[in-house]
Amino acid sequence: MGNNKQISGFSKLSKTEKIHWLAQNFLYNNPINVAKEFASYWHDSIEEQKVFDGFSENTITNFFLPFGVAPNFKINDKLYAVPMVTEESSVVAAAANAAKFWFDRGGSKAEVISTVKIGQVHFNYKGSFEKLQNFFPQLKQDLMQGAKDITENMEKRGGGIVDIELINLSDQLENYYQLRCSFETCDSMGANFINSVLERFGQLLVELVQENDSFTYSEKDIKVIMCILSNFTPDCLVHAEVSCPLSALGDVEGMPAADFANKFVQAVKIAKIDPYRATTHNKGIMNGIDSVVLATGNDFRAVESCIHTYACRNGSYASLSDASVEDGIFKFWMTIPLALGTVGGLTALHPLAKKSLELLGKPSAAELMKITATVGLAQNFAAVKSLTTTGIQQGHMKMHLSNIMMSLQATEDELAKAKEYFNGKVISFGAAREYLNSLRKNAIG
Ligand code: MEV
Repeated sequence: MGNNKQISGFSKLSKTEKIHWLAQNFLYNNPINVAKEFASYWHDSIEEQKVFDGFSENTITNFFLPFGVAPNFKINDKLYAVPMVTEESSVVAAAANAAKFWFDRGGSKAEVISTVKIGQVHFNYKGSFEKLQNFFPQLKQDLMQGAKDITENMEKRGGGIVDIELINLSDQLENYYQLRCSFETCDSMGANFINSVLERFGQLLVELVQENDSFTYSEKDIKVIMCILSNFTPDCLVHAEVSCPLSALGDVEGMPAADFANKFVQAVKIAKIDPYRATTHNKGIMNGIDSVVLATGNDFRAVESCIHTYACRNGSYASLSDASVEDGIFKFWMTIPLALGTVGGLTALHPLAKKSLELLGKPSAAELMKITATVGLAQNFAAVKSLTTTGIQQGHMKMHLSNIMMSLQATEDELAKAKEYFNGKVISFGAAREYLNSLRKNAIG
């Protein structure tokens, strides 16, 4: 039965014991079935299951999400079938539709603009800033030298520490300064590398100032608050775009090309000025980006937080994408920060992340940035295209109907009949259930 007592040592229990404890304390209506259900999602192979268990803590089972593929992505004249992991219906279909649409119009172009990542040592210093500034050129050299054992391998791969800046923020927060460090991490996302270097910098900063005689006793008392990478990477940028003459655009969902293009551009402009619309507009972009980021074992929380900060860079949350019609050419583009890796982290450990990267031809991090940005742009194109022509519900509701029918345990035959019946009608859970009941009654009667 449930109780209010704290449990200690939960992490030390076996998976079965954890489930048993949960069933006893929280899911006690049907403890035997609960245990069976959790266990039913374990991997058949004990060895494979151990891999999944190792990713996190207190794992009791696996949480499945659909792994889909959007084919026909032509990016810089290279063809990709892009793996996408998402639970949202219509996302993969929309990406695939947009990919096909642009495949017939030359595909998309993508370019990596920069790949620099940022990390910070946040510290308190109570002395003269000028003194610290004067010492900084030497300090910088010593910091770089003092982290050589960590940076050596990354340097061999062409990366390492790019720069260190001393930032004075004491006018905003008393005694507060930063070492703002930039890094090149090649094909890895680089979080562990950056954090290890920063922690070394923090330690060295204290030691080197203490050893330097130009600082007074109280000035030597530097306190490092924290050392951590920043997930805001405005200098790790990728650009993706599609364009074609209006004549090549053709009628879109029955709308003449020029009307469609102008309406589309207007929709993007609305997302540029109105944060309510911008948030949903960008959510559509993230539907595509997150799906690829997840499928390739990258950190979607880092990507999300970075992109949304970037969307506010001009002082107000705004659309990440832009569109124009100029000289008869429709153009749609986006430049976004994306810190991704194709080596290290989960990319080699998760069997399906590894497969995703194989499917993409084992891309470099830069190539993955281009693919991911293009999928985000395609997703945005598909959403805004639907919104400005047929409305979003037409496509969405078809998938929604399938989900509702599935939740009502409808057969394939019942689903096919429901699709036919609801064609052009408004779909709701209630209406779908009513229809299914009547269908079943008729079958009996
Ligand atoms: C739904 O997941 C995403 C959309 O709302 C995006 C948009 O409105 O642009 C369709």
